[in-house]
Amino acid sequence: MKTPQRQPDLVFRGDPAPAAAALARFVRRGCPDRLFEYHSPDPDPADNCLCFFEYGTAGGVAWASLRYSLLSLVYAQPFSTPKRLALRLFGAAIHPTAYLSPALFVDPLFPSLLTIGPGALLGVGVRIALHEHAGSRFRAGRVTIGRGATIGADAKIGCGVEIGEYAQLAVGAVVLRDVPPRAVVIGNPGRVVSRIDP
Ligand SMILES: CC(C)(COP(=O)(O)OP(=O)(O)OC[C@H]1O[C@@H](n2cnc3c(N)ncnc32)[C@H](O)[C@@H]1OP(=O)(O)O)[C@@H](O)C(=O)NCCC(=O)NCCS
Repeated sequence: MKTPQRQPDLVFRGDPAPAAAALARFVRRGCPDRLFEYHSPDPDPADNCLCFFEYGTAGGVAWASLRYSLLSLVYAQPFSTPKRLALRLFGAAIHPTAYLSPALFVDPLFPSLLTIGPGALLGVGVRIALHEHAGSRFRAGRVTIGRGATIGADAKIGCGVEIGEYAQLAVGAVVLRDVPPRAVVIGNPGRVVSRIDP
């Protein structure tokens, strides 16, 4: 019932400069790779963050500031459309028929890594991570939520995870691995407990 852990498509070690340049390419829409990984020679996560690759120019700083400010404003809105349009402005692909509930939180660092299919519903307080740190390891990954999926209130989805079509995540489920289509997942760590019949 457990899907295997996703292996990274791109792995960099050592010098942060080429890794940061590769990360800038990775986050562009259209890049076919799903999971990016960097291993720093520095063991302190606060020192080896590649998140700041875009802050090298005044334009980059301004764009990042606008993105964080606008997204934090719309996440609190009761309506789905402002969230969808703002996320789309920053590169996310969200189908117009998907519904985004209030208090949604999508990682504002790399919104371009998010895709949400038609008719999917994200409940109140859902959180989606698009990057993560673990000691000297940094990851960024695409999250795809398939057509018709239900993401229960307060569920959390880790970076690089794909949620299959018509899957259902229970209230509060925490999902760090791919979820097959039509699977019902509960708990932390999320486990598949049943399947929805077509
Ligand atoms: C996961 C879910 C789809 C299952 O619904 P269901 O098919 O009607 O299943 P049931 O409520 O009968 O529960 C089935 C089992 O899962 C357990 N379960 C249900 N929801 C759970 C949760 N969030 N966490 C842990 N266990 C849960 C039940 O206790 C039950 O266990 P049991 O068989 O040992 O008694 C539903 O509980 C859910 O969380 N839906 C999301 C709702 C939501 O957040 N919508 C958006 C609002 S903004």
